[in-house]
Amino acid sequence: MYKILIVDDEKNMRWAIKRAFKNQPYDFLEAADGEEGIRVFEKEQPDLVLMDLKMQKMDGLTALEKMKTLEKDMEKDIPVVMITAHGSAESAVEAMKHGALDYISKPFDVEELRIILQKALEFKGLQDKVNYLEEVLEMKQGKPIIGKSEKMNDVLKMVHQVAKTDATVLILGESGTGKEIIADTIHRNSERRQGPYVKVNCGAIPENLLESELFGYEKGAFTGAVKRKIGKFQRGEGGTIFLDEIGELSLPMQVKILRVLQEREVEPVGGTETYTVDTRIITATNQNLYEKVQKKEFREDLYYRLNVFPIELPPLRERKEDIALLAKHFLQKYQQELGKKDVKISKEALEALMDYHWPGNIRELENIVERTLIISSNQIIDKKDLPPGLITHGTSPSSDSESPGEVAFQLPEEGINLEALEKDLILQALERTEYNQTRAAKLLGISRHTLLYRMEKYHLKK
Ligand SMILES: Nc1ncnc2c1ncn2[C@@H]1O[C@H](COP(=O)(O)OP(=O)(O)OP(=O)(O)O)[C@@H](O)[C@H]1O
Ligand SMILES: [Mg+2]
Repeated sequence: MYKILIVDDEKNMRWAIKRAFKNQPYDFLEAADGEEGIRVFEKEQPDLVLMDLKMQKMDGLTALEKMKTLEKDMEKDIPVVMITAHGSAESAVEAMKHGALDYISKPFDVEELRIILQKALEFKGLQDKVNYLEEVLEMKQGKPIIGKSEKMNDVLKMVHQVAKTDATVLILGESGTGKEIIADTIHRNSERRQGPYVKVNCGAIPENLLESELFGYEKGAFTGAVKRKIGKFQRGEGGTIFLDEIGELSLPMQVKILRVLQEREVEPVGGTETYTVDTRIITATNQNLYEKVQKKEFREDLYYRLNVFPIELPPLRERKEDIALLAKHFLQKYQQELGKKDVKISKEALEALMDYHWPGNIRELENIVERTLIISSNQIIDKKDLPPGLITHGTSPSSDSESPGEVAFQLPEEGINLEALEKDLILQALERTEYNQTRAAKLLGISRHTLLYRMEKYHLKK
């Protein structure tokens, strides 16, 4: 069953489409304008969107752009097919430029639409497969873990110790410290390495979908559940399940996960039967879970169940010895990708990197190396080639991550360009979080809504 979202302000149109495809395995969702479309898109994560370009309240192009940014947060590819007016080839091209997969112009017949929908769904199927295979390949090869500092050595020792057991592991650490790559390594070095490795980003799946994602559902559990669906826990049978961003779980979901940990059983939505699962559980979070327990936002019993074997990843600023190694590693990696050769990094530039406090940790370092390589055409990367933010704020106190929001900015004599500064800060936050809007907004101390608004204002899209 495919979930197809129709966004069109003409009720008759929505009705006609639904009726025409009554006998297809399509479950139609509807929205009467762009704004509503975005809401349903975010909540339901459909398999395909069919959207009118011309609508009264928020036109299709704006809604399309928003959907394409939201998609990144969801870590999904959702094809959008636009409905355009007869003879408006230009607007169709415009829509494709903004990420629409295809378009159909009015008036169209059912057969025409059927073919377009089928093609788009096939495309999505292929895209999902490619994404999956890429992940499997990356997993098989395994990304190397770089680091020779004492702190990293301790971590690696723990990783190898715990990999051989079936113990539940909790990986803690700031954003970008390598939690995911550590989880991958544990699975790859475990007895279960031949078994499946299932990753779930608990923060990226809306609450209403998470339960059936994790536990599956029985046929008839709700409208649209025409076939039973196996959940991620069962998919991890004989292997490992990695629950990322576990700190984002709502309290009701926490109860359900606790039950799996206690009973090693799952109960699919809408079912009465339970199934035993044999899967190793690894979780990770960049939040302070213990603090969340104190604040009653995270269940204490679950915390202790997860915390059997904690691994805490040190922030990059606490293992400065690794900065040069990592910088050279990424330099190597990205020169190859960019078709460059023998690019070196100067001593001064390295020193600047060592002085910086790296709030975005290794991910930030990786992004900076990549970006610098793209921009600079020199054979030697010098201090002046590094992003200005890195040098001027390089010596900021290391404790600032504890208390964001306290701003100690001195307006210079000559004044500043506030808009340019704002734009630059927003861009930095987006890059640091790989365009994860929720986290970028958090870094900036504004709501995601405000962030979206400003991104639009400054035309900041990936
Ligand atoms: N020790 C390391 N050696 C090489 N690359 C690393 C290392 N640690 C992290 N990386 C790379 O840095 C990037 C961020 O790592 P990862 O996604 O594992 O971080 P994370 O802790 O899960 O971050 P977040 O909390 O934001 O999800 C990835 O591209 C990863 O491959
Ligand atoms: Mg992660």
